[in-house]
Amino acid sequence: MRCTTSLYGKDVLDVSALTLADIDLIFQTADRMKKRLKQKIKKSSYLKGKAIINLFYEPSTRTRTSFELAGKYLGADVINFTTSASSLLKGESFRDTLLTLQSMHCDAVILRHPVEGAAAFAARELSPVVINAGDGAHAHPTQALLDLFTLREKGLRLNGLKMVIVGDILHSRVARSNIALWTKYGADIHVCGPGSLLPHDLAALGVTVHDHIEDALKDAYVINALRIQLERQQKGMFPSPREYARLFGITDQRLKLAKPGAVILHPGPLNRGLEIAWETAYNSQSAVLQQVENGVAIRMALLALTLKGENLDENFD
Ligand code: CP
Repeated sequence: MRCTTSLYGKDVLDVSALTLADIDLIFQTADRMKKRLKQKIKKSSYLKGKAIINLFYEPSTRTRTSFELAGKYLGADVINFTTSASSLLKGESFRDTLLTLQSMHCDAVILRHPVEGAAAFAARELSPVVINAGDGAHAHPTQALLDLFTLREKGLRLNGLKMVIVGDILHSRVARSNIALWTKYGADIHVCGPGSLLPHDLAALGVTVHDHIEDALKDAYVINALRIQLERQQKGMFPSPREYARLFGITDQRLKLAKPGAVILHPGPLNRGLEIAWETAYNSQSAVLQQVENGVAIRMALLALTLKGENLDENFD
């Protein structure tokens, strides 16, 4: 049976606007997509005739590639807008760029932008669906969804679970979206990092703040190491890389403080030897590559649900 789903035609700007029912639907759809990805022929014609523009004003490997693959696996046409080869270099404004792309009859714009609120601005200006692929330090909803989907696959239920986010919380849209999403499920959220990289409003978010990594890791079930965003650091805000690794780096030795089998998440790209030790990055507790794999399934699910809005028919598998 076919029916219009709750996400049809909706923008995805942050996880805060998603209900638990929406998230369930996204995960059930991603389960189907993941099954499809394991088949010999991955491509379907589910979104045939739809056009998606990847509009990335910042570099990306995982998010951009997985949105491109997600759209293509579903049969849509996907265009990658490359800022360095665009009329931005001739001074065209962000708004004019959006209106220009909309005039080409695209159905969705996937936007990554360095400014907080850029995705919400785009959603106000545009009629196509806008999916936020990361706006400044504000939000990265698809990363949060794929992280939670990965924990769900590991059999973890978040209610009351000690979960730790370690690193540069101040500049991290991943931290903000994960805190918002984990809070919906009643997780016991802890954060740890250099004082200069912790935002002032953390207490209002209901998280526990630690100065020492050992306290933060103790009995944790999930450890979310963040990338140190060296490109966003202001002078004097960041200890030396060596000092950071010594005080806050996730190592196999420190992992022993957490619950046995605790899951390590990292959004990537990894600074190995800085926020995570070389040998820890892909150890048996690391879910880093599973996160990448799940990124394709989650983004397929979001494109399918926002652009077509039908429950997948029985023949999709
Ligand atoms: N996690 C993430 O957003 O990675 P990319 O910057 O490579 O897309």
